Amino acid sequence: MPASQPEGRLLKLRDLVEAMRKLGTAARLDPSQGGSVTDARGAALAILSSDGIFLSANRSAAALFGYASNELVGRRLLDMAPEHDRASLAAHLSADPAREFHSFTTRLAARNGRPTLLVLHRQLIAANRTPDQDQRADQGAQLTLFEEPLSPEPRLADGAHPSEAAARNRLKYLMIGQQRERQRLAADLHDGLGQALTLVKLMVEDARMRLRRGQAEDAAQKLDATVLQIRETIGEMRQICGELRPLALERLGLPAALSTLCRRFERSAEGLAVSFHCEVDDRDVPEHLKADIFRVAQEALNNIVKHAAATEIRLALRRIETGLLLTVQDNGTGYDTRPLSSEDIGSTGLGLTGMQHRVESQGGALSVQSSGTSGTLVSASWTL
Ligand SMILES: Nc1ncnc2c1ncn2[C@@H]1O[C@H](COP(=O)(O)OP(=O)(O)OP(=O)(O)O)[C@@H](O)[C@H]1O
Ligand SMILES: [Mg+2]
Repeated sequence: MPASQPEGRLLKLRDLVEAMRKLGTAARLDPSQGGSVTDARGAALAILSSDGIFLSANRSAAALFGYASNELVGRRLLDMAPEHDRASLAAHLSADPAREFHSFTTRLAARNGRPTLLVLHRQLIAANRTPDQDQRADQGAQLTLFEEPLSPEPRLADGAHPSEAAARNRLKYLMIGQQRERQRLAADLHDGLGQALTLVKLMVEDARMRLRRGQAEDAAQKLDATVLQIRETIGEMRQICGELRPLALERLGLPAALSTLCRRFERSAEGLAVSFHCEVDDRDVPEHLKADIFRVAQEALNNIVKHAAATEIRLALRRIETGLLLTVQDNGTGYDTRPLSSEDIGSTGLGLTGMQHRVESQGGALSVQSSGTSGTLVSASWTL
């Protein structure tokens, strides 16, 4: 089956959101996966056909394998597995296709050929069918979460209190997670900035050589190209920093960073009014939630500008009895009833699903209500 052939032809966004919810719960409850952590930059998520072809992948999944999202589309998991892992991977992929949830460990090679041990959590995306719809069309698309497994659960020291041991485990997993993040950052810096700076150095040396030879015009052209390359490199550096932690958040605190974000979106589209209502002080928001709240707001705003054709957005952060509530309401076209077309499956990122995972993995809840008449409301709440 070609990659663009949509197993998810009849999928609706709410099927995907529902699958994410089930996957989150099942992956957390799965006893064989004690303590695995998700990449702090966001869950690595993809939609795969039942036989393991990438139909869609988010940026974290693409980054995990060293590709851009659209480069992953059409690739087969089996082709990415090292030779001696293929048979067991094939067996997992062909295991009962109607099974709702399935976790297994396998090795997959990234673009650079280096294999990484990964846990795949696969959740069947069950589309809602109507009797007149072709039932075969939606069989088997799987929402898949890729996680790097941690070392096996350490055994309880004799006499250690279970909660102390659990706390120690959490700390250990956190540290392993941080270490992995550092490795990934080092790789980004090396492959992105390192390569770009090497190129700049070569270009400047080339220009210098031409100047020495008296070829001033050629040297000037080389330097013009160098300036462009430097500009691109600065952009790349900003992106790497932004992935780590939004700079505005560091400098301004959450409420001011959200307000700046709203102003930026307002300026980015003609005829769009973005209001921001905040009843929360920066000090009232736990450190570990700040980046998540910012990212959820950012993705919701991005979606509105990209898809909603809205003229009004209202963003609010307020305290509720149980904790914090972030809401983003637009008056745009909505999408609740629109099926995800084959093109969507191939080209859609998994922004909403990633947002849901981000919120729920911190014990929060995400809900999306959308209609053609009253736009879309994204609400995320966290318990304090
Ligand atoms: N506020 C909105 N108004 C209308 N449609 C929306 C809105 N938010 C999301 N959508 C629809 O939901 C789909 C899924 O959104 P999602 O954020 O998961 O992916 P994406 O925005 O297409 O890609 P990415 O987030 O990776 O850039 C979108 O393609 C769009 O059709
Ligand atoms: Mg999006």
